[in-house]
Amino acid sequence: MCGITARVGPGEAVPELLSGLENLEYRGYDSAGIATRNGRGIDLVKREGEIDELRGAIEKRPPQGSVGVGHTRWSTHGPPSDANAHPHADCTGQVAVVHNGIIDNHERLRAELDSHEFTSETDTEVVPHLIEEYLSDGDSPGEAFRRAIDRLSGSYAIAAVFDSTDTVFGSRNGSPLVLGRASDRYYLASDVPAFLEYTDEVVYLEDGDVVALSPDGYTITDAGGKQVDREIETVDWEPADVGKGGYDHYMLKEIHEQPAALRQTIRGRTDLLAGRAELEEFPPESFSDVDVVHLVAMGTSYHAALYAQSLFASRGVAAQTFLSGEYATNPPSVDEETLVVAVSQSGETADTLAAIRSIHGTGARTLAVTNVVGSTLTRECEDTIYIRAGPEIGVAATKSFSSQVATLSLLCERVSQDTDGATPTATSELFESLAALPDHVQQVLDESDAETVASTYRNSDSYFFIGRGVGHAVALEGALKFKEITYDHAEGFSAAELKHGPLALVTESTPVFAISVDPEDTKTLHNVKEVRARGAPVVAVAPEGSTNLAAYADHLLELPKTHPDVAGILANVQLQLVSYHAADQLSRPIDKPRNLAKSVTVE
Ligand code: M6R
Repeated sequence: MCGITARVGPGEAVPELLSGLENLEYRGYDSAGIATRNGRGIDLVKREGEIDELRGAIEKRPPQGSVGVGHTRWSTHGPPSDANAHPHADCTGQVAVVHNGIIDNHERLRAELDSHEFTSETDTEVVPHLIEEYLSDGDSPGEAFRRAIDRLSGSYAIAAVFDSTDTVFGSRNGSPLVLGRASDRYYLASDVPAFLEYTDEVVYLEDGDVVALSPDGYTITDAGGKQVDREIETVDWEPADVGKGGYDHYMLKEIHEQPAALRQTIRGRTDLLAGRAELEEFPPESFSDVDVVHLVAMGTSYHAALYAQSLFASRGVAAQTFLSGEYATNPPSVDEETLVVAVSQSGETADTLAAIRSIHGTGARTLAVTNVVGSTLTRECEDTIYIRAGPEIGVAATKSFSSQVATLSLLCERVSQDTDGATPTATSELFESLAALPDHVQQVLDESDAETVASTYRNSDSYFFIGRGVGHAVALEGALKFKEITYDHAEGFSAAELKHGPLALVTESTPVFAISVDPEDTKTLHNVKEVRARGAPVVAVAPEGSTNLAAYADHLLELPKTHPDVAGILANVQLQLVSYHAADQLSRPIDKPRNLAKSVTVE
């Protein structure tokens, strides 16, 4: 939540700061602002609303200077408004600060700074006023920045621009901050897409680091004030990966990227001859000590984890999925034989980080399954498997779900073989289906009837999604996607649960999406008959050959024939398309649903 950026180097800072903010807008989009050092003082422009509002204001009065900071906001303290938008300045206009995170002790600090004039309701504003105090003590900007940072508790990624120096200072604690290094300029940002157009060389800062960026270079000091070297890494994303590539929305682009993303996810990770998963970091026997698997995640990642739980269960591996936000508050017992798998696209979700932190020191083994290289989760966990889906910008997670499930199914194979020795014949069928998955997803994308389904039911009161096993996880995910971007009421249930309450809500105005991954699935068929008997229209999402289910459905969204463990991914692609078209027909802001942000970095 919230994106920050900073830039130093030759030329005007504003164009690069603005393009950086546009690429970070998925992190928050209720207000935005920029501050630059113009040689006489600080130019600061900020506006409530999306970045276009800021762009309009900047055109009228462009901030000057080659050094600056920028911010795009998702409100935590104080509603969206010009005043609460970042950057925030001190009373004298010597310093302007942008911040992502929450400063827990801001009330105490604000009380201490009662001689200062505050102009916003934000927690952030204490930072420039603290810096002002220390500058008035005679500190240099670098000293004042460090002293202010040392007073903060909570989570933050912060950047500050001063009127007196062309050095920008930044620091992080619990919120992401990445440094970008180009030949003659430097950047700070919450995420790499902010500066990918200008450089692919990055330094992932660590908690407690303070970085000073000047046109001549940068220095990093750790939490103890000691100068440190951090590794410079090269990211393998292309600038085009973070554009819309001719699609109307990032979500649609990312839905269509799934075949390519899945090829990347699976590439080199299966050995068909030996019938085993080849997860590069985990040779056979890596998991032979594992007794139970805990999966922790939120939102779409939670649904991918639930999907994996079914896969583990069907292979006789004890696995349980937890909402990470509950895991930390009600910790289950864990020991050295527990493998805790944290699933997160961003690797920055606060609840999931808290879940992992809650078991530090217990002996449980931790494994991150994430998309973002260098994310906080990868540092908090002992091991990492990357899902390799490429950048996902749309707030509604799409390709990350498919790549998470594919990755988790390989992990599941590895763990089940290590703990119990599954037969190669059983797994080779699955591997063949995984190898065919990108083409099958492409077939769904090419042939889907989802747009017609979306328009047929566009005036319904409510939408239900039902399924069993992996189909249950897909039902939950289908409903989440639908409500998130259409703003219509949608609920996902286990088909087994239907008669235990939800059936009371089923009427002729509640289309029911019935997900089945097996043409012989008679139980879901019975549930479909039950809802049909109450007048509800049924959309079956089922594999070729599901003739019985098709006979009772008003619409069939067909899946190519494949292994049932993989079919759920195809079913989910159909539902992504339904949600997308339904939201599009309602003219919803698909990539920026109200009240949401891509990365939920506060609990
Ligand atoms: O980055 P993460 O996978 O940890 O994010 C988890 C959820 O916040 C995320 O999946 C959210 O539910 C999406 N907006 C769903 O489309």
